[in-house]
Amino acid sequence: MKSVKEKLNINKIPRHVAIIMDGNGRWAAKHGSERIFGHEHGVESVRSTVEGAGDIGIKYLTLYAFSTENWERPKNEVDALMGLLVQAIENETGELMKNNVRLGTIGDIKKLPPDVAAKLNECIRLLEKNTGLNLILALSYSSKWEITEAIRNIVNDVKNGKIQSKDIDEKLFEGYLSTAQIPDPELLIRTSGEFRISNFLLWQIAYSELYFTEKLWPDFRKEDLFEAVYDFQNRERRFGKISEQLFS
Ligand code: FPP
Repeated sequence: MKSVKEKLNINKIPRHVAIIMDGNGRWAAKHGSERIFGHEHGVESVRSTVEGAGDIGIKYLTLYAFSTENWERPKNEVDALMGLLVQAIENETGELMKNNVRLGTIGDIKKLPPDVAAKLNECIRLLEKNTGLNLILALSYSSKWEITEAIRNIVNDVKNGKIQSKDIDEKLFEGYLSTAQIPDPELLIRTSGEFRISNFLLWQIAYSELYFTEKLWPDFRKEDLFEAVYDFQNRERRFGKISEQLFS
């Protein structure tokens, strides 16, 4: 029997897949452990998913690693997550380099502790010439924050005479988002059986296909990514048109 990966149509791989990695805390509770145990195991899922995404030729993979709202979690969890991030970057940079992965971030990066920001920047610089998968970590990110920032910057540019208000259209607005150089995701995955978007890429997912799985993030592996892509390939994307128009 063919594996899901073998069943994939290689000419219809989404260019950009975004993932809301959810369920680390519940996974830890299921295993009778502290929440951080779930986050630690979530790193293995990140590794497998990045590898799988590169394997099937996805060009952009955006992972929701830390939201603006996550700063409100207990301090010990926030500190542990930041520590885990630094550790993961230290451990994985070599493998990312071998796999030709480029790293980027979206979010309010200046809010990150200086050591985390420094590690991230160092890794981004090391990988900047790579030409394979673009791995984008959403850190201290929320869509409402991003859209508010865009508006602030547009207003400033109008005031400075850099642009005129009559020039403001969808394309110009997109240029002010942190995803300016990144195509919109065709597929958004959320794990853990929750049916929410949680302030993630609200503008960019206007026409994305949504895929929800019951799997908790620490159980998610590249095969689950292939399953989601296979499901995506069997959907009809109409972008507001009718079926017959797509094939005429
Ligand atoms: C959501 O689960 C997960 C997070 C807020 C953090 C995700 C972080 C990682 C997977 C580890 C490090 C990441 C990288 C990119 C190396 P939750 O805590 O909300 O789970 P719950 O809903 O079950 O409580």
